[in-house]
Amino acid sequence: MELGVCYYPEHWPAEWWVEDARRMRELGIRWVRIAEFAWSLMEPEPGRYDWAWLDKAIDTLHRSGLKIVLCTPTATPPKWLVDADPTILAVDEQGRSRGFGSRRHYDFSSPAYRRHATRITRAIAERYGEHPGVAAWQTDNEYGCHLTVLSYSENARRAFRPWLARRYGTIDALNRAWGNVFWSMVYRSFDEVDLPMGAVTETNPSHRLDFRRFASDEVAAFNREQVSILRLHSPGRPVAHNFMGFFTEFDHRTLSRDLDIAAWDSYPLGFTQNFFLTPDEKQKWARSGHPDIPSFHHDLYRGMCRDGRWWVMEQQPGPVNWAQWNPAPHDGMVRLWTWQAFAHGAEVVSYFRWRQAPFAQEQMHAGLNRPDRSLDQGGIEAGMVGDELQQLAASAALAGPLKLRPSVALVFDYDAVWMSQIQPQGADYNPVELAFRVYSALRSRGLDVDIVGPDAPLDGYRLIVMPTQPHVAPKLAAALQSSHAQLVFGPRCGSKTETLTIPANLAPGPLAALAGVRVRRVSSLPPGCRETVTMPGADPGNAQITRWFEDLDLAGAEVEGATSDGRPAIARNGRARYVAGWLDNAGWRAVLTRAARDAGLQPHVLPDGIRVSRAGDVAFTFNFSDQTVAWQPSPDAHPLVGGASLPPRGVAIWKVAPST
Ligand code: GAL
Repeated sequence: MELGVCYYPEHWPAEWWVEDARRMRELGIRWVRIAEFAWSLMEPEPGRYDWAWLDKAIDTLHRSGLKIVLCTPTATPPKWLVDADPTILAVDEQGRSRGFGSRRHYDFSSPAYRRHATRITRAIAERYGEHPGVAAWQTDNEYGCHLTVLSYSENARRAFRPWLARRYGTIDALNRAWGNVFWSMVYRSFDEVDLPMGAVTETNPSHRLDFRRFASDEVAAFNREQVSILRLHSPGRPVAHNFMGFFTEFDHRTLSRDLDIAAWDSYPLGFTQNFFLTPDEKQKWARSGHPDIPSFHHDLYRGMCRDGRWWVMEQQPGPVNWAQWNPAPHDGMVRLWTWQAFAHGAEVVSYFRWRQAPFAQEQMHAGLNRPDRSLDQGGIEAGMVGDELQQLAASAALAGPLKLRPSVALVFDYDAVWMSQIQPQGADYNPVELAFRVYSALRSRGLDVDIVGPDAPLDGYRLIVMPTQPHVAPKLAAALQSSHAQLVFGPRCGSKTETLTIPANLAPGPLAALAGVRVRRVSSLPPGCRETVTMPGADPGNAQITRWFEDLDLAGAEVEGATSDGRPAIARNGRARYVAGWLDNAGWRAVLTRAARDAGLQPHVLPDGIRVSRAGDVAFTFNFSDQTVAWQPSPDAHPLVGGASLPPRGVAIWKVAPST
């Protein structure tokens, strides 16, 4: 478990670098990530490379004992390249080229850009691949940031057609799969298929789904090209990419197959303000962040790479600049978030950024240090974690990244998110929020969770929750069938085929026998419309369904929760439960508590703002609230850091009896 920091030597006088590196070491920082936006300095003119500054920066950081994560600079193609070949630019849905002047303006489908990207990657890999200071790589930076996965360019159109031909074989098969007989959309050849844009009204949902799948594959292919160059010239160094929170525009699992480390960028306060939380939640968690936002992603990214290696590549150090509102974290939160990441198995937590830049777009974004080089609150707290890590390592109480073995799996699938987004059928039907709400309900009951893909092996889990999976592939259906776990299916599971059409046996399609229900009719509920659900485990009438409701025919299942007029809302068929609507938080907690107990787990009600997690014989308690709370994982737990009385923003680490 180590700390890192994102550093931009090119932003500061070279005379500062030695001192900066010394102070990083002093805080306990071991890793430094550099160069992801520095293309125009590496290659100031076409074909003329200038490595002198980077040689010096890498040598300085290395000599100070820091391990370097070197980045490929492909997120920011320089102006001369854009001017020389504007076809490298991505195109928006209205057909306008994305302009120069910020970042991520390139088109993943541009063959010319792919050539330039591999050229600069090869140049940097050849120069530094064997440098003893370079200990890991990062490809590009935050693929897709600023909504840049979909490009409606001529390049994309040209690449989409053969992609479709490979998928469907014949144009008749595509016409059938998409239902093109509708509105006379039949094509005679793949060469007639355009991108889903510019039509009078909604384009065919199957067409849009395949375009999103294609665009996702383009991102993965782009990344794969860079990775193979890095592996060739820098053998033995792990390759990472830094993914983003609540970002689902491409399939992170496909891309992660080519990585050694899945990293993500954690901005808990920015995400709390910018995503789907209610106004009350945004206010309540403004300065600590919603407790489950960081861990949702920790548990997601832990499941990405083959051997579960994952990092936080960027950790919020203070106020950011890009959310609707940018509050300062409460004192203690930077330390808490860092430990929370380690508790969920992170190898490295790296802060963004070393020093606040006094210029350009992110000048209002805090760093560990202020622009005048004085240490800011985030830096003070990074130093605290640095000290704690050292003490715990010295006493051998914590050795190496923690290995978690949750009994609960939550299935989360990118393709499923796209399907739900393409035809939401209700303006507030948000599949990512649904997954998060279900996850949060599990965490509020003290349960550790693995977030897994639809292809993951499911043996060994005692509770499997699938909040939103419109298409259930035969392999997933078989894995659910043969598992011995308790199962909880959310609304709309099994409601679509692979090409986004309605299954012949209606929803829940391949889950019909397991769930013992058939969906007869669905309704989205406008704001203010609600169904009150009575079910065991919740106060009668306490759980509400809003946004979405399904009328079920029972085919073997019994009713475990019903609306006030007696319609089934939660159906139970042996070890499977089917939830027929958008349940509120209390409702999900009730259903999941019940399922967890049936699975032999011990869910318990945590005090508001308290979160716990466990890995082998180490347990953590975190207090996100404003109150001092007494909480101890077990009577015989022995404190390593903190204790049973947790102050606001407090962290406690415990030795406990090994979990079985
Ligand atoms: C990330 C990005 C960084 C920086 C940061 C600001 O999304 O990777 O380059 O922009 O946000 O919070």
